[in-house]
Amino acid sequence: MDKLRITGGQRLNGDVIVSGAKNAALPILCASLLSADTIQLDNVPRLRDIDTTLKLLAMLGVRQVRDGASVELQAEHIDSSEAPYELVKTMRASILVLGPLLARFGHARVSLPGGCAIGQRPVDQHIKGLAAMGADIRVEHGFVIAEAKRLQGATIRTDMITVTGTENLMMAATLAEGQTILENAAREPEIIDLAELLIKMGARIQGHGTDRIVIDGVERLHGAQHTICPDRIETGTFLCAVAATGGDITLHNTNADALGATLDKLREAGLQLELGPNTIRGHMNTRPKAVSFRTTEYPGFPTDMQAQLMALNAIADGTASIVETIFENRYMHVQELNRLGADIEIDGNVAVVKGMPELSGATVMATDLRASASLVIAGLAARGETTIERIYHLDRGYDRMESKLQAIGAHIERLSKEQA
Ligand code: EPU
Repeated sequence: MDKLRITGGQRLNGDVIVSGAKNAALPILCASLLSADTIQLDNVPRLRDIDTTLKLLAMLGVRQVRDGASVELQAEHIDSSEAPYELVKTMRASILVLGPLLARFGHARVSLPGGCAIGQRPVDQHIKGLAAMGADIRVEHGFVIAEAKRLQGATIRTDMITVTGTENLMMAATLAEGQTILENAAREPEIIDLAELLIKMGARIQGHGTDRIVIDGVERLHGAQHTICPDRIETGTFLCAVAATGGDITLHNTNADALGATLDKLREAGLQLELGPNTIRGHMNTRPKAVSFRTTEYPGFPTDMQAQLMALNAIADGTASIVETIFENRYMHVQELNRLGADIEIDGNVAVVKGMPELSGATVMATDLRASASLVIAGLAARGETTIERIYHLDRGYDRMESKLQAIGAHIERLSKEQA
């Protein structure tokens, strides 16, 4: 397994091109199942979860051509409507094929994702929503098995706000008969990006970006081209990194509008920001100040930035209190940050971070995607050498992170299995 070796203490200076958003690209790739025509996608990030999704779509019979950040997909016919356990267990977002398969082909068999490191993460709301649309849907032998002649529009209010749940139901509703209203819908920018692609394909959707999405079903969807929106979490991760190390970086191909709550917190920590139409410049010349925050659904502070801002707090001046409200077990990075000399205590879903003047390099283990990013940030700021093991977690969701960091002056290298 690859490892990352970081020699901390270098300031970051220079330019970073932000990749397309993982969490927009994943549902958008699955949306190709909704049409027999070609879907042309650009700005698709190069990372493991995208490879896994393309593998799953290929198994289902979706033809594909990939050239760098461009992907062409065509689902004229499918060979199978089954998403097997071997793939779903490695990536929960595989559940996103359920709605499209059922809506277009009338049947789907998708392995139930197991629990995952950051929490239980059930898919009951996806199932409940599709059942409300008339699907015959049951869980049997570890699979969600769904059938429907044609889905029927319905008013669906999910018990909690769910991002992929909203996406699955929105995709299914595009081909349903009649009108579907999704209440308590997620408002994330990635939902808007998916809706924009679906509209280009001929879907009739209104209200995306609000908590009430109205979809009027159509008979068929056609081909379209779409450029994936910028990754707001990658953007936020690099901004946390420069806030932790000091320096001056400019992020390109990004969108500050999608990062309101994150930018507010980084400003509070002392990062100076200059926002352009597609750029964000962040510069930092002081020790960060501790910032308390609470994760909530968009437009609140994202849970996907919690670990990275915690790493910043670990070296900040003062004490911060963090409340994680989305996932019940998303503090696995705490133990590892403490190995680097941080002083973090957890009580239920509250973490209290006492800022230390400095961290010291050590060997640590990545436990999930954003936890890995927090360890990279801490390693960049720490004195001495940090080795991060199990970085396959990082590769799932970041597009060539270490090369982007090297280009702005970080001393970071990948040790492949043979070297490690
Ligand atoms: N939930 C249920 N039942 C459901 C669906 C969700 O109980 O049927 C609960 C979850 O267990 C969780 C909460 O509702 O406690 C919110 O979960 P949500 O469904 O919104 O999460 P998700 O759709 O599985 C997406 C992102 C995550 C991100 C969350 C929250 C994708 C592919 N994944 O997950 O991204 O943390 O929304 O914003 O979009 C990441 O990129 O590192 C990542 C984990």
